[in-house]
Amino acid sequence: MNMKLNKNACATAVALALLGGAGASWAQTPAQTAAQTPASQPWMDRSLPAEQRAALVLKEMTDDEKINLLFGYFPNDFKGIKRQEAGRKQAAGYFKGIPRLGIPELHQADAGIGVASQPGPDVRERTALPSGMATAATWNPALAYQGGAMIGAEARASGFNILLAGGVNLAREPRNGRNFEYGGEDPWLAAQMVGAQIRGIQSNHIVSTIKHFAANDQETGRNHLDARLGDQAARTSDLLAFQFAIENASPGAVMCGYNRYNGDYACENDYLLNQVLKRDWGYKGWVMSDWGGTHSTVPAANRGLDQQSGWPFDHSAYFNEALKEAVENGHVPRARFDDMAKRVLWALFDKGVIDHPVAEGGAIDYAAHAKVSQADAEEGIVLLKNSKQLLPLAPGLKSIAIIGSHANVGVLSGGGSSQVYPAGGMAVPGLGPKEFPGPMVYFPSSPMKSIAARSKAQLRYADGSDVAAAAQLAASSELVIVFANQWTAEALDASLTLPDRQDALIAAVAKANPNTVVVLESGGPVLMPWLDQVGAVVEAWYPGTAGGEAIARVLSGEVDASGRLPLTFPASLEQLPRPKLDGEGLPKDSRFTVNYHEGAAVGYKWFDLKGHKPLFPFGHGLSYGSVAYSGLAARADGGKLTVTFKVSNDGQRTVKDVPQVYVSPANAAKWEAPKRLAAFEKVELKPGESRTVSLSVDPRLLAVFDTADKRWKIGAGDYRVQLAKSAADIRHTVSVRLPARSLDVRGK
Ligand code: BGC
Repeated sequence: MNMKLNKNACATAVALALLGGAGASWAQTPAQTAAQTPASQPWMDRSLPAEQRAALVLKEMTDDEKINLLFGYFPNDFKGIKRQEAGRKQAAGYFKGIPRLGIPELHQADAGIGVASQPGPDVRERTALPSGMATAATWNPALAYQGGAMIGAEARASGFNILLAGGVNLAREPRNGRNFEYGGEDPWLAAQMVGAQIRGIQSNHIVSTIKHFAANDQETGRNHLDARLGDQAARTSDLLAFQFAIENASPGAVMCGYNRYNGDYACENDYLLNQVLKRDWGYKGWVMSDWGGTHSTVPAANRGLDQQSGWPFDHSAYFNEALKEAVENGHVPRARFDDMAKRVLWALFDKGVIDHPVAEGGAIDYAAHAKVSQADAEEGIVLLKNSKQLLPLAPGLKSIAIIGSHANVGVLSGGGSSQVYPAGGMAVPGLGPKEFPGPMVYFPSSPMKSIAARSKAQLRYADGSDVAAAAQLAASSELVIVFANQWTAEALDASLTLPDRQDALIAAVAKANPNTVVVLESGGPVLMPWLDQVGAVVEAWYPGTAGGEAIARVLSGEVDASGRLPLTFPASLEQLPRPKLDGEGLPKDSRFTVNYHEGAAVGYKWFDLKGHKPLFPFGHGLSYGSVAYSGLAARADGGKLTVTFKVSNDGQRTVKDVPQVYVSPANAAKWEAPKRLAAFEKVELKPGESRTVSLSVDPRLLAVFDTADKRWKIGAGDYRVQLAKSAADIRHTVSVRLPARSLDVRGK
């Protein structure tokens, strides 16, 4: 594991200190030494490598016991089948374990932003981080790590040892209803952020997944659509995000997606599972199916699926008796059956699940965890526009109108299996669909109250349902803050147009008072037909448990605005590779193809390639301060590219900035797009402070993947190295000559 913590995030230090107590219970478990290990259970000797421990216990297991590790239950009443009583309530999954051999039951919860709960009578209330997209917008892996550590601590205290987290699907499709769970559109950024979160989770001695492998990039038709993507393009985009994140974090399990991938279902896809993941990348953990993503016994097992999840989501109990029978009659080789079980065991030993058992009912320090969430939210909020300098809010303001989105009581969250239910209940019950992926949950953290606590102005609220009343309130106030929302959720794709006629509301309010600030709570990008009419726009995403407080701190300027976009905001649908979403309007469960003809030119790369001017570019985000870059230099030592530059705060306030390094060959025609993000760093600087930053570039980001001989190849020649504020705001460029290099499929 290479844990690269940001050196200067002081919020990080505070929050890590807060977390100190949270995961402590396992740390006190007495280590079982060789001397204490019962002779009958040599695999319990912690001094042995995980590989050996897995092999030792596997030898003792009957076929039925192996099945206990390979066949999972959805432990709730479902499809007329009663819940598995031994599973945790409102959990996502349960495995029986093998008590006689000391292999614990496995309890699974979704955990993209916190310990999630299936809807129902006994929802589990826990701390929620901001959405994955918001965390990605911090560009601060240390925050992602501590968020993961927080989730892991709450999971241990809730009796979960397998967390369904680590969503790293690229935002190839800005309308994807699950983009809020993921890490944006760039493979390097997404992998750094999601990888850090996985490391944080697993620091609690539990397993985290990474998901959904692979190209599970839209929700429309997700169960059957066939994502078409060539090998070279995939290795440089969707697959590269997984490869970087797996190297970064070593997740114990990979969850294969619902979709088909170049023909076969992802969960029975020899190319994805056997060739790329297990052979090329040498992945040692296990592959679990998404819930309802297993489609067969023999093909699935032989093509690399190790575990069926969430029975009865699938049509058949493929990995129960049917798998045993397939092994007995030789359709699934016994060696493969053993490999399936051994992979699960390896990960359980390697991540500490067996040595540090979890238990339900542990104490949770919600106040401390809310601070972790808040620190994350604050750095993820992106100041998109501030042309009239309405922000930070002027201390002398006399009256502020707060309009829309239940901003008087709470903040929105994204829907579906990752839904975390807030401690203290929902701020606005009864919203959204009655069935999955509902309900629509507002966390009880009121932006209005938090703004009021920081302002002497009189605050008045209008819910926005009456446009004329809202405009009137706006006209009679010195400044207006309109909260606009876009609820996105699993199983649904989004429209980039704000729902519920909010565009008209914003336009009317801004007409009544041009001193209008728009705060967006959205899963991803939205179109802004009113952009020229408003003075400021803030993207707050789904800001989590303490979102109201985080928004108020950014609006008031108590903290700098330091989020940067992890994905492009398009100016129109016509700019996208697919102006019309494939499968839109087709009956559910239709089979259709999504041809990812843009290849690896995802997001800003596509916009660069086509010369489209986005509404807001990837990497964009304003600060309240002023930061200058200088001294850009690039060195190629032994072919390894290192980039050095100076970042200086020449303003009056403490700032956080994200210098971004983009690279491209002089002859960019050989690449999928004119440039790639190669490195970044979040830097905090006091007034007058400067810092020299030195970043090294992963060679794969300079290479083209050669599909025929499976090697990364860097062509000899001159490369441009650009230091930028965003993908569209390049500040300095230098050139560096690189020798030809060829690296193996793992980038070595
Ligand atoms: C989602 C997964 C999730 C699983 C279990 C599925 O619907 O696609 O991300 O982990 O359910 O809740």
